[in-house]
Amino acid sequence: MTRTLVINYTPRKGSYTKILFDEFVELAKGKTEITHLNLAKTPPELLLSKNLNLIMDWNAGKRDFSEEELSVLANHHKLIDQVLAADYIVLAFPIYNFTMPATVKAWIDAIVVSDKTFSFSPETGFRGLCNGKKALSLVVSGFDYTNSGAIKEFATATLKQNFDFMGIASEQVSAFGVDQNRDQLTSILERAKVEIKSVIDSWYPNLSSR
Ligand SMILES: Cc1cc2nc3c(=O)[nH]c(=O)nc-3n(C[C@H](O)[C@H](O)[C@H](O)COP(=O)(O)O)c2cc1C
Repeated sequence: MTRTLVINYTPRKGSYTKILFDEFVELAKGKTEITHLNLAKTPPELLLSKNLNLIMDWNAGKRDFSEEELSVLANHHKLIDQVLAADYIVLAFPIYNFTMPATVKAWIDAIVVSDKTFSFSPETGFRGLCNGKKALSLVVSGFDYTNSGAIKEFATATLKQNFDFMGIASEQVSAFGVDQNRDQLTSILERAKVEIKSVIDSWYPNLSSR
């Protein structure tokens, strides 16, 4: 059976993103082995002096870390191992201030790591190490960014770039405009649910869903 890592940052009571996330999990149940990561309950550690400098040592080739250093890196290592163990990754979050919430960016900062999820050599350049994995982002916003001209959100592009960099094929289901077009809330969410079902059917074929 395949393994799916499902990640949500949905702290608001009544979160619309959580509704879509729950829909994915409900449809995926029984078709894949699911591991949960709730970023609003267990946020990734930020890159700070104590861990960033150890990560720089790792990037420079150091591999013999002390027990104490390994304990500083433990949170990031756990997050990376979850990604490496997964065939599929789902990441659900709302747009905050035109991009992803800081907690979600902290997860990306934790998992995009040299010789874990990507590699670099002067001869071959950058290479993703996660080929074969697939990712789905579930993104909800108050404003409708479709054809919104100068007003842009940067989560979609940032996420795609990072997944591409790691060699992960990614797609996104967006529910944009839930505050701006509150009268259309139900249809915006229903449209997203139809797209979620279509991803489920393509990820877990021959396992019929409701
Ligand atoms: C701190 C904060 C910042 C937000 N910034 C934006 C924004 O820049 N663009 C936008 O379209 N919506 C913004 N919103 C609105 C949310 O994206 C929208 O209400 C969404 O439904 C929240 O997701 P949730 O229902 O899962 O909590 C913001 C909401 C919050 C709480």
